[in-house]
Amino acid sequence: MESINFEQVDIFVSCPIYLEILLEKEIQDILPGHAIVHARGGVSLSQVTPRQIFLLLLGLRTASRLFINLFNFRFGNESEFYQKGVELPWEEVLLPKDTFKFSTLLAYKAKDNVKNSHFYSLLAKDTLVDRLSKVLGKRPDVAKQLPDYPLYLHIDQANPQLMTAQFMLDICGFPLSNRGYRLPGHEATLRENVAAGVALFAQLQEKKTPVVDLTCGTGTLLIESMWVAKNIAPSIVKLDGYLNRGKNPWAFIFQRWFSENKKMKSQFDELANMFYQDSMKKLGQKPDQKFIGIDNNSDYLNLAKQTIERALVKNWIQIEYGDCLQMPAVFSGEGTVLSNLPYGERMEDDHLEDFYYQFGENLKKNFKGTSAFLLSSRADLRKKISLRTSARIPLMNGDLECRLYRYDLF
Ligand SMILES: C[S@@+](CC[C@H](N)C(=O)[O-])C[C@H]1O[C@@H](n2cnc3c(N)ncnc32)[C@H](O)[C@@H]1O
Repeated sequence: MESINFEQVDIFVSCPIYLEILLEKEIQDILPGHAIVHARGGVSLSQVTPRQIFLLLLGLRTASRLFINLFNFRFGNESEFYQKGVELPWEEVLLPKDTFKFSTLLAYKAKDNVKNSHFYSLLAKDTLVDRLSKVLGKRPDVAKQLPDYPLYLHIDQANPQLMTAQFMLDICGFPLSNRGYRLPGHEATLRENVAAGVALFAQLQEKKTPVVDLTCGTGTLLIESMWVAKNIAPSIVKLDGYLNRGKNPWAFIFQRWFSENKKMKSQFDELANMFYQDSMKKLGQKPDQKFIGIDNNSDYLNLAKQTIERALVKNWIQIEYGDCLQMPAVFSGEGTVLSNLPYGERMEDDHLEDFYYQFGENLKKNFKGTSAFLLSSRADLRKKISLRTSARIPLMNGDLECRLYRYDLF
């Protein structure tokens, strides 16, 4: 088995399904000309340098995680899996002092042959532990929470007789979509990378006109929108913790391929400083664009205020108590309305029907000249809005299948 050259690796960048198109565009902007292979729920790139990995890690908005591909082989049954797994040079990846955890992901085609993915996680663990015990005389421990090495095994079906095993190392630990500004307390928040996806679908990176979220909750859509519009690094909160408060928000900081390579570490620190300084400079400027959030729940508004502060954008985003069903115009002329509409977390269905109808009527009356992007998981209720959609974009918020409906109110 060949050694791994961490100076040039193949990677997989995952994202929520339906965001692949945006993720690909983001990667093209960061690494122009680099070949990208599409997959469901992410993209693969070959021959990526650590510097390129860092650029992606710090700059991608729609990504969930970034994995380094370590090893792969084909196997026919469990005993062949073990035999081949125990021959892999795991000692080049981690040492007995490190903690790890395996998770197994099954491709759809492999589900007929592999009934129990947990069994394969245990088998993969055995290959690693037995290999290190044999070569280094000691085994590493499993950590269920925050292991130094979150390892993934992806099993696919190559042909009717053979399966493929792909071993990957998650270098993020906490997902990239977990930006570091969220606080608990709202039961229906939007994933941060999905909110960034909404801002990108609304093309806010090209707009200077006001943005209003009429059901802002904790402010996720506004924070991500402001970051997109002003090109603030999505890693800014993690960078602040890393550079100013001795925090280590990414798993790779503890991983051998990085921690034992001084040149790589100084390369990362240089980029981290560059991203941080650039974003902080923009955040410190006098706001030249309005971002307004409305909600009729004061507890959520308090949470939104704290969240916005943690996201370093309190000078940019204004939060107000209000009823979106009767909200008068909050600006005149062109602008963007964004809203992640309630889907039943606090309201009964007959109230919700009325809510959607009134919401549409108020848009017509008070938000002429805007483009509205409404995210809802309730296609049945959306029909109560008596406006013509100009786009319907499927999106997933966690396990919830949603649509982003665009209305041009001209
Ligand atoms: C799905 S949640 C939005 C969550 C938000 N995107 C986030 O990430 O925190 C819907 C929000 O609509 C708000 N809401 C419900 N009825 C409202 C009304 N009549 N006026 C304003 N906000 C309302 C709720 O308080 C809730 O925060």
